[in-house]
Amino acid sequence: MIFLDESLYINKGTNRVCYVHPNDKTKCLKIDLKDSKETKRELKYYKQLIKKNIPFDSLSKYYGEVQTNLGKAEVFELIRDNDETISMEVDKYLKNSNNIEEIENLLKLVPSLKKYIFKNKIFVKDLNTVNIMYQQNGEKSRLVIIDGLSHSNYNPFFYICDYFINKKINKSWNGFINSLKKREIIKENSFLSNYLI
Ligand SMILES: Nc1ncnc2c1ncn2[C@@H]1O[C@H](COP(=O)(O)OP(=O)(O)O)[C@@H](O)[C@H]1O
Ligand SMILES: [Mg+2]
Repeated sequence: MIFLDESLYINKGTNRVCYVHPNDKTKCLKIDLKDSKETKRELKYYKQLIKKNIPFDSLSKYYGEVQTNLGKAEVFELIRDNDETISMEVDKYLKNSNNIEEIENLLKLVPSLKKYIFKNKIFVKDLNTVNIMYQQNGEKSRLVIIDGLSHSNYNPFFYICDYFINKKINKSWNGFINSLKKREIIKENSFLSNYLI
């Protein structure tokens, strides 16, 4: 049993609260705030990706389940920058950074995220700037999806048929790119939209 306290708290979203793993600073623990279908579908999808040997280059790794004093938790890779601080969501950079070079460096990574998603056919239901971390790590900097994956229980056919998968992935990707194009900092510096493919 793992003991968690407020000193380990990182952040919470709509469904889950996230803590640093007390025995391993490279991992985090996520606990459901309420019984959530989203979490169940995400875990099902993660397990399938592991089984199919899909690389986790742009996804936080999943390490299974543990018991804590606050209930059952799922263990994931904790995304940190090379100075060890916990990485920030893309959304926070776009909202708070006035450093255009920093924003450009972040956006330069968008095409490789696209390549990863399409090559490995990763369907992210909520592909948005809150669910993607910008991990600053010099040459190895990357965008990492930490949330929003989904496995649909209703239509298993969808997962075997490339045509439907590609259509869904295209739609979620285009939605993501269009939302980026609407951000103030990108509208004000139009050259930045060159990276939004
Ligand atoms: N792998 C991770 N590395 C670093 N921070 C994370 C990670 N996963 C989650 N977080 C932080 O915890 C917050 C909530 O986690 P998230 O998985 O997005 O929960 P929810 O499903 O409720 O949206 C995130 O917005 C982020 O700030
Ligand atoms: Mg989230």
